[in-house]
Amino acid sequence: MTVQCIVTTALRSGPEQAELAGYFGRLLNLPVVPRENRSLEELTGRYGASGALVVSYRRVAYISAGEEVFFHPSLAVLRIKGLLAGKTDQMIKAMELLPGDAILDCTLGLGTDAVVASFVSGADGRVTGLEASPLLAALVAYGLAHYGVEHVPGLLPAMRRVEVLTCDHRSCLTGLPANSFDLVYFDPMFRRPRRRSAAIEPLRLLADPAPLSLRAVELARRVARRRVVIKERRGSAEFARLGVDRIEGGRYSPVAYGVIETGGGCR
Ligand SMILES: C[S@@+](CC[C@H](N)C(=O)[O-])C[C@H]1O[C@@H](n2cnc3c(N)ncnc32)[C@H](O)[C@@H]1O
Repeated sequence: MTVQCIVTTALRSGPEQAELAGYFGRLLNLPVVPRENRSLEELTGRYGASGALVVSYRRVAYISAGEEVFFHPSLAVLRIKGLLAGKTDQMIKAMELLPGDAILDCTLGLGTDAVVASFVSGADGRVTGLEASPLLAALVAYGLAHYGVEHVPGLLPAMRRVEVLTCDHRSCLTGLPANSFDLVYFDPMFRRPRRRSAAIEPLRLLADPAPLSLRAVELARRVARRRVVIKERRGSAEFARLGVDRIEGGRYSPVAYGVIETGGGCR
């Protein structure tokens, strides 16, 4: 049998980790392999898998070729601390995000942007994150629901409020009513980072690398009451291809935000 991924536990683990491995195996329809002191190389080799979802006391991680993908809110924490200190967060500024807003994050990834958006939109707001990779969606959904360290007041409630759906954003957008979210957000993998980013590189193991389609942007225009925001590398030709109205972002930042006004106006 050849599978892409197996589920197992860390070498040091107990019944809770075995139970959680079983949960992920059932959820993702992947084989659950008892660890029994064997190396990951041996287990993945035996199953012809390119990687393993490993449940340990500390976390759940996808491990492949020496790289690890796991949920951690550290980058969101930094940005939230910045916001609390009165600094500008360029994504929030480009969105003109307000408490109570409903945000559809069409490219959830590791959930950093969604958590920051959820923190700002608050208890009266709503953040839904769409992720095409079932494994990544499962990892991030579990992390958002179970991560337990409140690095900043309000962080854990913001994480818990993010709803995760596993789907291709085009099919999800097609089924949504017009104007059902204030903002629709895209942060596709397509752009080439100028430098290798420690946060993004492991994500490439699991992420859908397809460029953002014009069709997706067209669908998003219908769903977004106020605006569609697209994150890209500064100077990217993607902004012109996707037809943004204007480009915002910090003058010295390597990334920028393309904004499409959808005409919904004030709340
Ligand atoms: C650059 S990452 C997003 C990072 C995210 N903004 C964050 O803060 O962690 C892009 C993500 O979008 C996902 N993606 C790409 N195309 C998609 C699609 N058509 N539908 C849903 N998700 C998609 C990829 O799998 C990847 O996880």
